[in-house]
Amino acid sequence: MLFSKQWFLFIAMAIVGLFSSTAAAEDAHSYARLDEVSTPHLELDLAIDFDRKQLRGFAEYSLQRHSNSNLLYLDSSQLTIDKAEIWQHDQWQPTKFSLGDVHPSLGQELIVDIGSTATKVRIHYHTATTASGLQWLTPAQTAGKKHPFMFSQSQPIHSRSWIPIQDTPALRLTYNARLTTPAGLLAVMSADNSLSDNRDGEYFFSMPQAIPPYLIAIAAGDLAIQAISDKVAVFAEQYIVDQAAWEFADTPAMIEATEAMYGPYRWDRYDLLILPPSFPFGGMENPRLSFITPTVVSGDRSLINLIAHELAHSWSGNLVTNASWRDLWINEGFTSYVENRIMEALFGTERAVMEQALGYQDLLANLELLEPNDTILNIDLGTRHPDDVFSQVPYVKGQLFLMYLEEQFGRETFDKFLRQYFDDFAFQSISTAQFKAYLQRELLAKHPQVVSMDKINEWIHQPGLPEDAPKPQSDAFAKVEQQMNRWLKGGALQTDSWTTHEWLHFINNLPLDISADNMARLDRQFNLTSIQNSEIAHAWLKLSIIKKYEPARDRLRSYLLTIGRNKLVSPLYRELAKTPDNLKWARAVYEQAKPGYHPLTQTVNEALLYNKD
Ligand code: BES
Ligand code: ZN
Repeated sequence: MLFSKQWFLFIAMAIVGLFSSTAAAEDAHSYARLDEVSTPHLELDLAIDFDRKQLRGFAEYSLQRHSNSNLLYLDSSQLTIDKAEIWQHDQWQPTKFSLGDVHPSLGQELIVDIGSTATKVRIHYHTATTASGLQWLTPAQTAGKKHPFMFSQSQPIHSRSWIPIQDTPALRLTYNARLTTPAGLLAVMSADNSLSDNRDGEYFFSMPQAIPPYLIAIAAGDLAIQAISDKVAVFAEQYIVDQAAWEFADTPAMIEATEAMYGPYRWDRYDLLILPPSFPFGGMENPRLSFITPTVVSGDRSLINLIAHELAHSWSGNLVTNASWRDLWINEGFTSYVENRIMEALFGTERAVMEQALGYQDLLANLELLEPNDTILNIDLGTRHPDDVFSQVPYVKGQLFLMYLEEQFGRETFDKFLRQYFDDFAFQSISTAQFKAYLQRELLAKHPQVVSMDKINEWIHQPGLPEDAPKPQSDAFAKVEQQMNRWLKGGALQTDSWTTHEWLHFINNLPLDISADNMARLDRQFNLTSIQNSEIAHAWLKLSIIKKYEPARDRLRSYLLTIGRNKLVSPLYRELAKTPDNLKWARAVYEQAKPGYHPLTQTVNEALLYNKD
């Protein structure tokens, strides 16, 4: 008996050792050593100081020891550490800490002495005004003009710029928080947000489900609240809260459709926070409270695939999480696939296929620009900053991969597989290698001769797209192309039934030798220069730069000055940077726009305009 008990212990230790050491070694973007000491729970206590553009307070972690190390390794970036303490012998005691050298993309290693018996550590700190994961807006930069606004964007590695933390998606932690703001402002987090109208300036939050650090989120401003259903509400500045509630009215139906396909929504409420137009992304899947750009509030519900996308992350990404940023496709590829399935369930195949086709065209354009190695799903990032390598590859190539598997195995089998996958890995972080092993066991081996492991490896480890990759084709778009050809020869355009998608396809596919007369003819008839839909305006303004269509200049300037969503502005700066005159003009506009841009939008576009790579 003793013998077998020892063996059991030995094997158990070997397994634990194997898992923890691989988890730590696999994330090149974090100094954390999860195999030595991990931090399963965070208590955050922060003052939001708008005058100093600073968060100030402490982060307290409970400690889980996996070795006899007496050091805790954390990530930090531009943080000032005021003091570190450990909880031992029933009291807080000061302890030593040290900060490493500044690494250009990773920030600084923070090492705290936790002794051998402490169960908790507390780090008192404050953030820099330039924290990469925060944006601070003055009252003048908001729609209401009376109150300031601030928000975080932590993914991929910006949590460390506002919390000293083991900033790797391989970690999962629960958190509680206490935030203070000036009276009158409302603070929200990726946690349980109260719908009450209490604005006393002190707010408490709890996130009882274990999440990766990049999903910790905070925002504060003069927010109004409008319910969509008993489970979904919109938080936004007053000017847009009703419009947003109308725009996103399909959200409860999206939740139901996703639950029917992939199992229960496990996060209680699902609320939407509409950010100021400088929010650098379309959306961010912060749990229980997706952060959403106002540029999708178009008045016709045509851009709500964004909501489907962020909601889909409640399964792919937030429930089953990429273990490192090399595995981002496990978040974004699955989510793009699920997003499109939600759109199909609610609005039918025609719209879903149009959205696939638009994504596919974006991917093809992206593949032209990227180094072959950066078109691999399981990308080798080294220690490059993931923001510098952001592309459509994890999204659309990942989505096409799952569409391919669906095609090969049939929808019924593939849906069952995916549903099981979300259950089996719920609240876990997984690597590409773990996914491959699971795919082999649960799909390939159970349905032999359908897809080989070689094919899977080609999708995951080779650049570009496999020969037999799905090539989404939309009949509606084929009709747009027929009309375009007739119109280019002088005929009339019948656009009455066109949706935003058809307009995007039309503008994106106009021949680049289109005449100045034809540009003017289009603009006269359809007022494209003054169109309010942010995506159509973007496509038109990009074409207008290429075609030197001057009547669109003023609109281009105001667009760049009012929108900071990087996907909408950086292709315009990239195009402008191609000629000396335009570059000069673009730099002047950029300098004017810069104070309103998020740090991420600043970094990306300065690289384009000033060749700072
Ligand atoms: N999680 C992403 C945003 C992100 C990814 C931030 C990687 C930092 C690093 C979010 O869900 C997203 O993909 N947003 C897209 C939505 C679109 C594909 C519908 C966006 O912002 O454009
Ligand atoms: Zn996403």
